[in-house]
Amino acid sequence: MKVLDAEFVKGYIRMANDGWEQGWHERNGGNLTYRMKPEEVEQVKENFTPKEWTPIGTSVPKLAGEYFMATGSGKYFRNVIIKPEDSFAIIEIDDKGENYRIVWGLVNGGRPTSELPSHLMNHEVKVIATGGKHRVIYHAHPANVIAMTFVLPLEDKVFTRELWEMATECPVVFPDGVGVVPWMVPGGRDIAVATSELMKKYDVAIWAHHGIFVSGEDFDLTFGLMHTVEKSAEIFVKVRSMADAKRQTITSQDFRDLAKDFKVTLPEEFLD
Ligand code: 13P
Ligand code: ZN
Repeated sequence: MKVLDAEFVKGYIRMANDGWEQGWHERNGGNLTYRMKPEEVEQVKENFTPKEWTPIGTSVPKLAGEYFMATGSGKYFRNVIIKPEDSFAIIEIDDKGENYRIVWGLVNGGRPTSELPSHLMNHEVKVIATGGKHRVIYHAHPANVIAMTFVLPLEDKVFTRELWEMATECPVVFPDGVGVVPWMVPGGRDIAVATSELMKKYDVAIWAHHGIFVSGEDFDLTFGLMHTVEKSAEIFVKVRSMADAKRQTITSQDFRDLAKDFKVTLPEEFLD
């Protein structure tokens, strides 16, 4: 089967385009990776023409032999839908988890996203934490979450609580809360280590003054998670623009009642 005819590839392209339409991907901002299922690799591998092995820049032994879809570094989400072969690649990880090679895509040259170390380290953490259920890691630059990182203390608890309070569905959608990475130079191993540490506990990691990483099982859940967090952040920005303090909000007891009815566990550390 041609790569572009496969359902999982159509899902990937749709998600990238949805992110563009939300305004989360100025220029080449953001990146998207998907860990392919073995049967999906089988479906399309007749099209693979492997290029040279290249160091990942970190080590991900648990991902040895896996195949990923990854947006290209410097490529625009805006173009994914019209120039898919130019905008993303399928890559293979070697048997040590230290090198990758492009097997399809990026037909006009280039390499996978500069955030590949963060993506792959997050995937590795999630393979372990979810028994392989999570397959999608998504990085975007949504304006409202980024704005929050200029006015709130960069603490997991503060961001979790504010985002939960801004929309009743939030604690149900991300019951574990969100982590915050202080400003760091993007694109390397250090920020990948810091982010993947948070991904052991959360599905959402906010990069101060930069953007968000989210992790999920499939394209719908992962896009929906990003969308929910950013919508909540938008409400936060509106509330702060109207008044310094909230007149009323959802209380800790309200969250406990919600958790009971919706059968989610909310960590007590976020409920005092
Ligand atoms: P890439 O174009 O290398 O994916 O980088 C975009 C980005 O958002 C970096 O954080
Ligand atoms: Zn970025």
